[in-house]
Amino acid sequence: MSESVGVIGAGYLGTTHAACLAELGFDVLVAETDAARVAALRAGRLPFFEPGLAALLERHTASGQLRFTTSVQELADHADVHFICVGTPQRRNGLAADTTQVRTVVESLVPRLSRTTFLIGKSTVPVGTAAELSELSRALAPPGVLVEVAWNPEFMREGHAIVDTLAPDRLVFGVASTEAEKVLRHVYASVLARDVPVVVTDLTTSELVKVGANAFLATKISFANAMAELCEATGGDVLTLTEAIGHDVRIGHRFLTPGLGFGGGCLPKDIRALMARAGELGVSEVLTFLRQVDSINMRQRRKIVEMAVEECRGDVLGRRIAVLGASFKPETDDVRDSPALSVAAQLHLHGALVSVYDPRSNTNAARLYPALHYADSVASAVTGAHLVLHLTEWAEFSRLDPVELLALVDEPRIIDGRNALDPRRWRDAGWSYRAPGRPHLN
Ligand code: UGA
Repeated sequence: MSESVGVIGAGYLGTTHAACLAELGFDVLVAETDAARVAALRAGRLPFFEPGLAALLERHTASGQLRFTTSVQELADHADVHFICVGTPQRRNGLAADTTQVRTVVESLVPRLSRTTFLIGKSTVPVGTAAELSELSRALAPPGVLVEVAWNPEFMREGHAIVDTLAPDRLVFGVASTEAEKVLRHVYASVLARDVPVVVTDLTTSELVKVGANAFLATKISFANAMAELCEATGGDVLTLTEAIGHDVRIGHRFLTPGLGFGGGCLPKDIRALMARAGELGVSEVLTFLRQVDSINMRQRRKIVEMAVEECRGDVLGRRIAVLGASFKPETDDVRDSPALSVAAQLHLHGALVSVYDPRSNTNAARLYPALHYADSVASAVTGAHLVLHLTEWAEFSRLDPVELLALVDEPRIIDGRNALDPRRWRDAGWSYRAPGRPHLN
C-alpha cells in the first residue's frame, strides 16, 4: 500500500487534515482550485488562524512532505487514496447543504485515475450523498479502473483542530468493503495505536453519525438556553441549574453554557441541512424538533439586542456601544455566522454607534460588515461607551480589570452575553452587570 495520500480542498478542514497526515508520516499532496491560496500555502502562509497549525505547515512544506497543487492530474498520479475535504455550504435559496463541490471533485478526479483508488469523504454531507458519489464514480471510472467511495467524518473543533485530528475521541469508518476498512486502518494506524475507539459501519450510518453528533451538541446548547429563558421568567439562576444537572454523569457539564448560542461554519449550517433532509425524507417530527433547536438559538441573538435596547432606556439611536468579540467563539478568527457580529450589526441597524474589538478577527469581521467601526484595543472600543457587550469569551476579556475600565466608559453597564465573566468583580467595581438567565443579578 502506498505511503502517498491526496487531499482535495485546502480550506480549514483540508489544510488541517493534510498537515496532520504529513505529521503521521505520509507524503501528502493537496489539490485546490484557488491558485492564490495554493501560492500562499506553498510559501507556508496559513489563510486562517488555528493554534499550532502554522508550525506544522512550515515544517512539512519545508521538508517537502506536504505539497500543494492546482492540477487534478498531478493529484490523480500522486496516490491511490484521496480524502475529499471540500465545503458543503448552506444553499443560498434554502436550508439544504449544497453538495456541488463534492460532486465536482468526483467528476474531475475519477476520469483521470489509472489504478484502483479509494475516495474517502470527510466533508459533512446530507445522508445518501456517499451512495450517490459511489454510483457516479463507477459511471465515470476509466475501463478496468476500480474506484471505491468510503466516508470518514470529521469531528474536529476549530481552535483544537490538531489535537482533535491526531488524538480524536473516536474514528468512524463508513465502508462498503473490507479493503476500504484496511486502507483507513492503515492511514490511522498510529492514531489507533493510542487506543482510540473506532466504529466501522456502512456509508449511510457514517454520514448520519456526523450530523447526529452536531445536532446533539446544538440541542444541548439550545436546551441550556431554554432553561435560561425559564430562569428569566421565574427569577431562577441558570448557571446554578446547569451546574447542578451537569453533575449527573448522564448529562455532563460540557456544551451546557447558556448565552448567545451557537454559531460558526458548522453547527447552524448542519442542523439546517438535517432539517431539510428530514423534510425530504418525510420524517416531519424530526424536522419540527430540529427547527425548535435552531429557533431557540436564533432567539438568543434577538434577546441580547433587546437587553441592550432596555439598558439604553428603550432606544440605542446615537448611543455608543462597545462590542467585545467578533469571532463565533474564542481561539479562532472565523466570523462565519458569528452571533457576536450578528448582534453588533443589528444594533448598528438600530442606529447605535457600535465599536467592535476582537483579538484576532477584526479583519475578517470588517470584510463581512464594513459599516461597523473596529477598534484596535479594548480600551479604544470602550472609551465613551454607554454600554459594553461581552459577546465572545476570549481569555483577554476575563482578565480585564473592571476598575480600570470604569475611567474610560461613559456609563458602567455591561451585558455578559456568554456568562463568562465574574459578576461579583464587575458589580463590586460599580458596574451594572446583566447576563442571560441570571435575573437575580439585575
Ligand atoms: C463543531 C463541533 O463541536 C465539532 O465536533 C465538529 O467537528 C465541527 O463543528 C464541524 O462540524 O466541523 P466548531 O464549529 O469548531 O465545532 O465549534 P464548537 O466548539 O462546537 O462551538 C460552536 C458554537 O457553540 C460556538 O459559537 C460556541 O460559542 C457555542 N457554544 C458552545 C455555546 O453557546 N455554549 C456551549 O456550552 C458550547
